[in-house]
Amino acid sequence: MSNRQLYIGLMSGTSADGIDAALVDMQTNLPQLITTHNLPFSNGLRTRIHSISIPGDNEIDRMGELDTELGRHFAQCTLELLAKAQLTTNQITAIGSHGQTIRHRPPGTTSNCFTLQIGDPNVIAELTGITTVADFRRRDMAAGGQGAPLVPAFHRALFHSSARDKVIVNIGGMANITWLPASGEACGFDTGPGNVLMDSWINEHHGVSFDKQGGWAASGAAHQELLESLLSDAFFKQPFPKSTGREHFNRQWLDRHLQQLPFPPANQDVQATLLELTARSITESIDLLCQTEKEILVCGGGAFNTRLLERLAKLLPNCLVSSTASQGIDPQWIEAMAFAWLAQQTINHKPGNLCAVTGAKREVILGGVYYAS
Ligand SMILES: Nc1ncnc2c1ncn2[C@@H]1O[C@H](COP(=O)(O)OP(=O)(O)O)[C@@H](O)[C@H]1O
Ligand SMILES: [Mg+2]
Repeated sequence: MSNRQLYIGLMSGTSADGIDAALVDMQTNLPQLITTHNLPFSNGLRTRIHSISIPGDNEIDRMGELDTELGRHFAQCTLELLAKAQLTTNQITAIGSHGQTIRHRPPGTTSNCFTLQIGDPNVIAELTGITTVADFRRRDMAAGGQGAPLVPAFHRALFHSSARDKVIVNIGGMANITWLPASGEACGFDTGPGNVLMDSWINEHHGVSFDKQGGWAASGAAHQELLESLLSDAFFKQPFPKSTGREHFNRQWLDRHLQQLPFPPANQDVQATLLELTARSITESIDLLCQTEKEILVCGGGAFNTRLLERLAKLLPNCLVSSTASQGIDPQWIEAMAFAWLAQQTINHKPGNLCAVTGAKREVILGGVYYAS
């Protein structure tokens, strides 16, 4: 018990649905998930995050206020997790906090690339009394990388097998894949939108934040002309390394494609098309990497979308497709676990990026450390 090396990972992704917190024991090679906690965001907070994620007025004040407020939410989520686990602050080595991405402009999209995650780690360290590692993405970008995705190194640590080729598919607001060949180098990249467009469409038409199990999408049929138009976006054909975000795949992007159609499709058919877009962009990316038989493990909130998993399985007939629950790990917590693992890498002065994934010139120690005392 006393040998445990406990880290906490805090994750809030582009969906801005809330904070996932994972308490992880890093004592062995295989990180063990001990306790989890979710702190949902109110509709008001989610709307403010979405609205600052696209260019608008008075961004510095709005960002500064959200930075502190989110820092307090991350701290509150940590303290609630500790209470659940019946642990005290001094039993935790460090927190790894991803923060909330409010802008991501990677190399290839602009000459002055940058990426910005907020949720002040000074506030987290001060309110929890736990050393906090944060701002993981910018060092990779400074080394010439995309700053994203960062989860593949953890996917490799957790899931690599020398007996079987695997692909880990993380479907959050955006989606990314990690290719883990039984022998050879791991790689991965963002494949495009995950849930973000489906969430936005159902919210607009039914006032709910997501399409439970993909039920509404399953009631419609993919509209071929719209699907082909969406898939013609240059991002899908771009070679990796590549990463993306809400700046690119958002409601306005969808609108531009809808407006080109002679007749508007039925609402449920648009939902079915958006689900198919996520499925096709993921499976076509996987086919590009390798076409042999392999195991596909799905994580992130999209793993709960039964319809989406059905479509992935159908589009990858020679693969075994399942959620990471089949490996005993609830798909909701993998990304939070990844940031606990990345914090440990940083605390131990080890790099956290994979050059083959982000395109960085070299492996670097990620993040800044905000000491408890
Ligand atoms: N039961 C479910 N059915 C369908 N989709 C779901 C379900 N649960 C979660 N999701 C989807 O997962 C998203 C959250 O996934 P998450 O991995 O937290 O993304 P992010 O990292 O962007 O926050 C939700 O917005 C929703 O679209
Ligand atoms: Mg989330």
